[in-house]
Amino acid sequence: MADPIRYVISELGRNVLEHSQSQVGGFVCAQYFRDKKRIAIGMADAGIGIPSAIRRSHTFTSEAEALKLALTPGISGATPKIGGNDTNAGAGLFFIRSIAKVSGNFFVIYSGGTQYKLLRRQDNPNFLFTDPLMESHRVVNDLPKWQGTAIGIDITVDDKVEFAALLERIRNSYSIGVKARRKDYYKKVRFT
Ligand SMILES: Nc1ncnc2c1ncn2[C@@H]1O[C@H](COP(=O)(O)OP(=O)(O)OP(=O)(O)O)[C@@H](O)[C@H]1O
Ligand SMILES: [Mg+2]
Repeated sequence: MADPIRYVISELGRNVLEHSQSQVGGFVCAQYFRDKKRIAIGMADAGIGIPSAIRRSHTFTSEAEALKLALTPGISGATPKIGGNDTNAGAGLFFIRSIAKVSGNFFVIYSGGTQYKLLRRQDNPNFLFTDPLMESHRVVNDLPKWQGTAIGIDITVDDKVEFAALLERIRNSYSIGVKARRKDYYKKVRFT
């Protein structure tokens, strides 16, 4: 079970370090439920929150829309540094929510007063949508304001299913999704 735990904690931890500007770092907790072979991981920071981070490179009209953007593959709030070669591919949160989905599990992200929850019971369990609103989900607005970002994910990795194979499947959906989005984008900006 070490690989998925390492993967999730490093992606979420990297996000705290790269995007949150949290003065208190990040808090992580995890528990293993032996009978159900389920790992629950939570990470929270008290930084600027998803909407403020995404606002650097995208416009939106609600916190829910900002969360949607953050969960969409290929969308990053990071602006590339001039002369730098840091590549924020906008992949982390898509991979995290997809790991939850592929293993039939729960994922939740809460920032500001808004929460997006991926439901355990999915209408299309075998397909990974690039648009998080196409997944069976619930958005709740007007919650008590959390100044920062909190994320929860459950993972059940079947011993027979290699985690590497699972990541490969998600990687394929990521590439297809990002390519499709670029095509749409260029369609929009093409002048006729
Ligand atoms: N803890 C956080 N605090 C503030 N903003 C965040 C946090 N985590 C993610 N975000 C915002 O959500 C965006 C998407 O995150 P995601 O991990 O999917 O991509 P990325 O970090 O930009 O790129 P990659 O993970 O591929 O390096 C980030 O660019 C950032 O704007
Ligand atoms: Mg990231």
